[in-house]
Amino acid sequence: MIGRLNHVAIAVPDLDAAAKTYRDVLGAKVSAPQDEPDHGVTVIFVELDNTKIELLYPLGENSPIAGFLSKNASGGIHHVCYEVEDILAARDKLVKEGARILGDGEPKIGAHKKPVLFLHPKDFNGTLVELEQV
Ligand code: CO
Repeated sequence: MIGRLNHVAIAVPDLDAAAKTYRDVLGAKVSAPQDEPDHGVTVIFVELDNTKIELLYPLGENSPIAGFLSKNASGGIHHVCYEVEDILAARDKLVKEGARILGDGEPKIGAHKKPVLFLHPKDFNGTLVELEQV
């Protein structure tokens, strides 16, 4: 059911420093910061040949990243995103298998303007999983 790894998202306590690390130390192609108010994050996209890294920094009052950073002061992997062809079919299969969908269970439009869902980390070995329809 799942296809390519679309991205790995890393929460970072200092977006400029993280961008510099990826650009200057690791030599990657790094985008300008982009605010995503609907998701409570500012994102920098790091383009790799085979996938993307998203550097996430809290935006606004109720950012889901703020709590994560309070527990992981130096940052850390926040979620992985797998591609699916049909997000509603994927959701229905997951629910049937007993997996929990976060939020109201309906896809939201994600940072790439495509429908996404998040799956409960306790059902996936402690990893927050995002599914994106491509
Ligand atoms: Co993501």
